[in-house]
Amino acid sequence: LMVGGTVGKVAQSRNPAFHVGDFFAGYWGWQEYAVSDGKGLQKLDASLAPVSTALGVLGMPGMTAYFGFLDICQPKPGETVVVSGAAGAVGSLVGQIAKIKGCRAVGIAGSDDKVAWLTRELGFDGAFNYKTTEDYVAKLRNLCPQGIDCYFDNVGGSVTDAVLPVLNVRARISICGQISQYNLARPEPGVRPFIYLLNKQSRAEGFIISQFMDRFPEGIAQMAEWIKQGKLKYREQIVTGFENAPHALIGVLQGENTGKMLVKFAEA
Ligand SMILES: NC(=O)c1ccc[n+]([C@@H]2O[C@H](COP(=O)([O-])OP(=O)(O)OC[C@H]3O[C@@H](n4cnc5c(N)ncnc54)[C@H](OP(=O)(O)O)[C@@H]3O)[C@@H](O)[C@H]2O)c1
Repeated sequence: LMVGGTVGKVAQSRNPAFHVGDFFAGYWGWQEYAVSDGKGLQKLDASLAPVSTALGVLGMPGMTAYFGFLDICQPKPGETVVVSGAAGAVGSLVGQIAKIKGCRAVGIAGSDDKVAWLTRELGFDGAFNYKTTEDYVAKLRNLCPQGIDCYFDNVGGSVTDAVLPVLNVRARISICGQISQYNLARPEPGVRPFIYLLNKQSRAEGFIISQFMDRFPEGIAQMAEWIKQGKLKYREQIVTGFENAPHALIGVLQGENTGKMLVKFAEA
């Protein structure tokens, strides 16, 4: 069974706490039906938000953006924040949270359409397409004239190498993901980062979102409030049909998604 976060509707129940038709979020993986004893499930209120948001902005990716950015980067108003993987489920939220916190937000993404979405619709101050830009360092210096105070890294590799020389003193790097490295057959040679951290008295910290699990209610409440206030936008890309799930996953690794990629197995 392929693992994965899911939203499901109760079809049959012998548990008095679970009623037919109720929605829950859980980790049932890629299957159309699952049996549960009810442990570890999150009940969803479909009247408060579309249930799909429990897999995106109000679920694990949203909490990854919220805690991975705010707790680890500790952004201050006026600072410059750079986000890689900026048009994805996590990155698109990080840049918007940076704006809410009074920062300058700059995104790095893999198509001109994504760059346009970030700057025209989500309020990023600048963005560039890493697939058509030759000199990433020069581009970053141009888009970040005051240097980089916070870097939220979703991708690693040569994009991240280019951020290092542009860091300011006491910069903070949140290492969220290294998607450019996941499928490599052997490790890629790259820049050695510690000299940059040393010279700029800076900090890089990895995290796994489960470490913040007990604080999810706080993050969900705040993200829901920002959505209600019109300060936070999110996009879902929904592929329909169980048979299309493998292509959807491969598509994420190839940059086909904007915002959160979801696969719908059945009509709610
Ligand atoms: N630490 C944690 O607990 C945690 C939790 C959730 C997610 N993550 C990580 O956070 C990152 C973002 O996750 P997500 O769910 O928001 O995914 P996502 O950004 O919605 O989708 C992945 C995006 O990565 C980009 N990408 C793919 N291959 C790339 C490459 N070789 N170089 C640069 N960019 C590449 C693509 O966009 P482009 O078109 O821009 O290339 C693609 O759309 C992932 O690395 C994921 O593993 C970590």
